[in-house]
Amino acid sequence: MLHRILYPKFSVSQKHLEQKLYNKTVLITGASFGIGRLLAEKLAFKNTNLVLMGRTSEKLKEVCEIIKKNGGNASYIPGDLRDQSTIDDVFKYLKSKDVGVDVFVNNAGKSIRRSIYSSLDRFHDFTRTMNLNYYAPIELVLKLLPEISKRNGQIINISSFLVLLPAMPFWSAYQASKGAFHTWLKSIQPELNKRGVTCSNIYLPLVRTRMIAPTKKFDKAPVMEPHQATEIIAKSILKKGYNFKPWWVNPTRLAFKLFGKSYIKRILKNN
Ligand SMILES: NC(=O)c1ccc[n+]([C@@H]2O[C@H](COP(=O)([O-])OP(=O)(O)OC[C@H]3O[C@@H](n4cnc5c(N)ncnc54)[C@H](OP(=O)(O)O)[C@@H]3O)[C@@H](O)[C@H]2O)c1
Repeated sequence: MLHRILYPKFSVSQKHLEQKLYNKTVLITGASFGIGRLLAEKLAFKNTNLVLMGRTSEKLKEVCEIIKKNGGNASYIPGDLRDQSTIDDVFKYLKSKDVGVDVFVNNAGKSIRRSIYSSLDRFHDFTRTMNLNYYAPIELVLKLLPEISKRNGQIINISSFLVLLPAMPFWSAYQASKGAFHTWLKSIQPELNKRGVTCSNIYLPLVRTRMIAPTKKFDKAPVMEPHQATEIIAKSILKKGYNFKPWWVNPTRLAFKLFGKSYIKRILKNN
């Protein structure tokens, strides 16, 4: 019941999605697991070219096989997006196939929830999250822009509701890196819009994927199911410029203004 209230159900028309993506190329990062994988499987259409990325080759191969079995069309480029060579591989591949990207879904991401006192010898937490959540999508966007602009394309940024809330203890690496890319994209958005490129920001709540699995206290929390997240992303493909945030984000911001200090005291006590 609570789940229904927090995440009202809706679904997009597969037929409309197929029409919208007719003869289009969609690049999805982080398509080997979780939300990106489900999204790729949802976009298995005969005349849509999917280019999938992630580090785990065997998982990407598996997704491509499922997509092909369902009548779709997908290829993959394995690699760590924090490496320059992976980014170079993406553009070599697109050039070799002579295709330009119409829709870029910036989905690959790394989340860390850790106290700063458990991070004293973990500077790499901060470089890793910045490299994946901030620098990699910036470089991809810079390199995609010439083609995506010619095609009046779309950039869909899979972000987090956390970037809309005040800074929270334990989330420094994740919240700062996701927030940095969010600010960057917001800053360039008017220029992109002027050239016909639209952006969508999808501020997801907690979603039941392997990303939140290490935090045991989320096991019983009323979180969003991954297929609901993919419906939201699909809606942003259908409706250019569509942004999503859970309806309860604004009331939560207000509650923070009123009770934020005592809430933070409580989470510090319980951790
Ligand atoms: N789950 C949540 O609660 C939640 C909430 C808000 C926002 N989000 C956002 O939703 C997006 C998808 O997350 P998810 O929940 O589906 O997590 P997930 O199941 O862990 O999937 C993350 C994807 O990113 C890829 N990835 C991770 N590190 C990578 C790297 N260095 N290079 C290339 N690819 C990499 C992973 O593939 P490999 O491991 O094969 O590389 C995987 O395909 C993320 O941007 C996340 O920040 C998630």
